[in-house]
Amino acid sequence: MDALTGVQSALNPQGPHAAVIHEISWVLFIGALTIFVVVMAISAYALFAQRDRARKLRETSLIIGGGALFPFVTLSALLVYSLVRANSLSAPPDSSPIRIEVTGEQWWWRVHYLDENGRRAFETANEIHIPVGRTVEIALSSADVIHSFWVPALAGKLDMIPGRTNRLRLLADRPGQYRGQCAEYCGGPHAFMAFFVLAQAPEDFERWTARQREPASLPEGDRTGSRLFLAHCAACHTIRGTPAEGTRGPDLTHVGSRTTLAAGMLPNNAGTLAGWIASSQHLKPGNLMPSFQQFKGEELRALAQYLESLK
Ligand code: CUA
Repeated sequence: MDALTGVQSALNPQGPHAAVIHEISWVLFIGALTIFVVVMAISAYALFAQRDRARKLRETSLIIGGGALFPFVTLSALLVYSLVRANSLSAPPDSSPIRIEVTGEQWWWRVHYLDENGRRAFETANEIHIPVGRTVEIALSSADVIHSFWVPALAGKLDMIPGRTNRLRLLADRPGQYRGQCAEYCGGPHAFMAFFVLAQAPEDFERWTARQREPASLPEGDRTGSRLFLAHCAACHTIRGTPAEGTRGPDLTHVGSRTTLAAGMLPNNAGTLAGWIASSQHLKPGNLMPSFQQFKGEELRALAQYLESLK
């Protein structure tokens, strides 16, 4: 029953926006089911009842009432209901929202947190932390093709379109880890374009943001890993506080603090980091990062340990 109660289920809403969508879905489904059952019952009556009884169904008033008036009234009512309910999804939040920009890229999510003045405070990737009980406004855009941002347990689905910014609001009622998934086919490994939203108690969220704003801590002891990173990875990745300032790939300043790797694909640890560096093309064919097969075993281990230490 994971589909009903799991971390990626629209049938298990964890916030008011998702709850509205959940409610509309059930009202429309039950409405449609009721009408279907009634129509089938009348059809069965027409087919199987005694002739003179079935003939009553031919009365003009019944045909106009059931065939024209009833659908018109019911469909109009359901339309008005769903428009009014859905309208509350775009109502402005009462307090100042947390503002985040998420950019879809093949096949991962670039995430910028904005400060109170709307300036970019820090960058991260593939993992969105939010405080419970506070509205989050996410500006969605794309760097390449059309993607679609969907965290079923928290909000509806919204496309990320190149050259356009769409705004999505969401709010989590309780702490938890909710899975999101790209919901628009965007090329080969589209199915591996996932992410997690981590809803946290406000003080945990504050602690997390304070940490994320800081530059990376310097490695203690052996510097092999950071040296290799600067030589091979810095053209595409940033680690704030070091000369690595590449922007093509995810910002790795605090990569060790993330729960997953490669956009929700792998759990994040030294082993999967090494595996990803050596075989990223095998794991996610066509992504911008080549497989780095030139590293010796101990070099790969040093590099992975360095990245894992970036908490
Ligand atoms: Cu991005 Cu599908």
